[in-house]
Amino acid sequence: MENNIISSINLEKTVQTQEGDLTILGGINLEVKSGETVAIIGPSGSGKSTLLGLLAAMDTPTSGDIILDGVSLAGLDEEAKARVRKNKLSFIFQSFLLVDTLSALENVMLPAELAGVKDARAQAQSLLDKVGLSHRVNHLPKQLSGGEQQRVAIARAFICQPKVLFADEPTGNLDANNGDKIADMLFAMNQDSHTTLVLVTHDEKLARRCQRQLLMQEGRLTEVTEPAQIVEA
Ligand SMILES: Nc1ncnc2c1ncn2[C@@H]1O[C@H](COP(=O)(O)OP(=O)(O)OP(=O)(O)O)[C@@H](O)[C@H]1O
Ligand SMILES: [Mg+2]
Repeated sequence: MENNIISSINLEKTVQTQEGDLTILGGINLEVKSGETVAIIGPSGSGKSTLLGLLAAMDTPTSGDIILDGVSLAGLDEEAKARVRKNKLSFIFQSFLLVDTLSALENVMLPAELAGVKDARAQAQSLLDKVGLSHRVNHLPKQLSGGEQQRVAIARAFICQPKVLFADEPTGNLDANNGDKIADMLFAMNQDSHTTLVLVTHDEKLARRCQRQLLMQEGRLTEVTEPAQIVEA
């Protein structure tokens, strides 16, 4: 399909363990359209983060392929995959992964500076305004609350205008109020910049806010059509 930003074709991931081969993902076929918001839900250990890592070109499948914005990842070496990650993708991890010696502003600027963007500082400042942190730009991560750190991570994720934003449990360790605020920002920024959003969540409310919900169970992915399935997951 032409307007698919992501397609996965028979994606499999098997790892070697002391007990023998373990198939984590058993043939995932997934299509995501440009600009869509997709939630991946499912029990702990079912393979959600593994799938996200593969889709984000951070890990290599055992077999199968991913077509990202028209490019087959299977045909790329590590260097080319790194370029795809840098130019088209962004990732928000559950544990924020801010650089602890850099201020909020410097953390947000970093990807843009690495990419040689000239007005990185002004762009970072404007993104921090958007996430409500204009009064905290010079704070180090350890001087910020958990919710504030997550907002810095979101601002940073958007600075290089990714085509796809992957987020693994973006509200996982926030209280309900902060979780709602973070979700509002993710969807607002998805709307503003037409970024495709693929997120993993245990939060039923967040999952429902996405246009599609996909249920991962024992390494297999199915489209959720009955809302009750979200609660069961
Ligand atoms: N490199 C690896 N070697 C062995 N087992 C692995 C490896 N990576 C993941 N697994 C196993 O694969 C399964 C899926 O892991 P994954 O992290 O994708 O689950 P998840 O759905 O994200 O779970 P959670 O909701 O707890 O984050 C788990 O049982 C995990 O132990
Ligand atoms: Mg996980």
